[in-house]
Amino acid sequence: MVNENQHGRAGAVDVIGVTQAFRNHGKPLPVLDEVDLSVKPGTFVSLIGPSGCGKSTLLRLIAGLDMPVDGKVYVDGRIVTGPDPRRGLVFQDPTLLPWLDVEHNVGLGPTVQGHRDDDESIRRIDEMIDMVGLDNFRHALPSELSGGMAQRASLARALVTRPEILLLDEPLGKLDALTRSTLQGELERLWRTQGFTGIMVTHDVDEALLLSDRVVVFSPRPAHIVADFPVALDRPRTQDDPQFRELRHKILGLLF
Ligand SMILES: Nc1ncnc2c1ncn2[C@@H]1O[C@H](COP(=O)(O)OP(=O)(O)OP(=O)(O)O)[C@@H](O)[C@H]1O
Ligand SMILES: [Mg+2]
Repeated sequence: MVNENQHGRAGAVDVIGVTQAFRNHGKPLPVLDEVDLSVKPGTFVSLIGPSGCGKSTLLRLIAGLDMPVDGKVYVDGRIVTGPDPRRGLVFQDPTLLPWLDVEHNVGLGPTVQGHRDDDESIRRIDEMIDMVGLDNFRHALPSELSGGMAQRASLARALVTRPEILLLDEPLGKLDALTRSTLQGELERLWRTQGFTGIMVTHDVDEALLLSDRVVVFSPRPAHIVADFPVALDRPRTQDDPQFRELRHKILGLLF
C-alpha cells in the first residue's frame, strides 16, 4: 500500500516492485530485483549491503535522477518522475562549487530558485550555517575547509530549502573516525530539529545503528532486501549497550 500522507506530514517514500538493470559490455546487468521499501515520514532509515549491490542506484531512483526498468517510486503517494528540491541529496564527496564561499554554496538552492536575497532566505541560510557550526567560515572557499567542514556545508546546503526527504549516500564515508563520530551526532541533531525523512546508505553498521529507526540489509547484486531491523533503542545511543551489540552481531552475520 502506498503511504498517502494521511497524517498530514510530508516525506513518505514507497518503493514498489522496483527492478533496475544496466548494460555492461553489451550484456544486461541486473542491479535491483523487485525491491519494496516503505519509509514513514520523519523516520530515519539506513541501507546497508555489499559493495556494488545497487544501493546508490536505489537512492538515485528515489531522488528521481534515474527511472526504473520496472516498478514505481512514490513520494507522498505521487510517482517520482524527476528530481525535486523537496528531496535533498548529500554524497560522499562534498560537491561544493569551488569558486563560491560557504555562504553562497549554502545559498545555492535559494539562488537557483530566484529568491536568494529575500529576508526569509537570508535568515534560513544564516540559521543553517550556524546549525552546522560554520559561522566563522561563512566567507571561506571550499579549498580552505577540512573534509568534515566541507561535509557540514553540504548538509547545510541540502537542508536550506527545508526538504521533506534527505537522501544521504555514504555522507561520512571519507572522514577520519573522530570527525565521523562528531558528524554522526550533528546529523542526528539536524534530523531531530529539522524533521526530514532520512534515507542513508552506509557501510558502517555502528553508524546505521546509532542514527536509524530501521536498518535495511541488501543482498549482493542484483539487490533485494534480506532483512529489515527496527532499532527501538533510546537516543542518544551507546555502542556498548547489550541490545546494540546484539543487533550489530545479527547485521554483521548477514553481511559476512
Ligand atoms: N549508470 C550506470 N551504467 C552502468 N552500470 C551502472 C550504472 N550505475 C551503476 N552501475 C552498476 O550497477 C551496480 C550497482 O552500482 P551501485 O553504485 O548502485 O552500487 P552500490 O551498492 O552503491 O556500491 P558501493 O557500496 O560500492 O557504493 C554496479 O555493478 C555498477 O557497476
Ligand atoms: Mg554506492
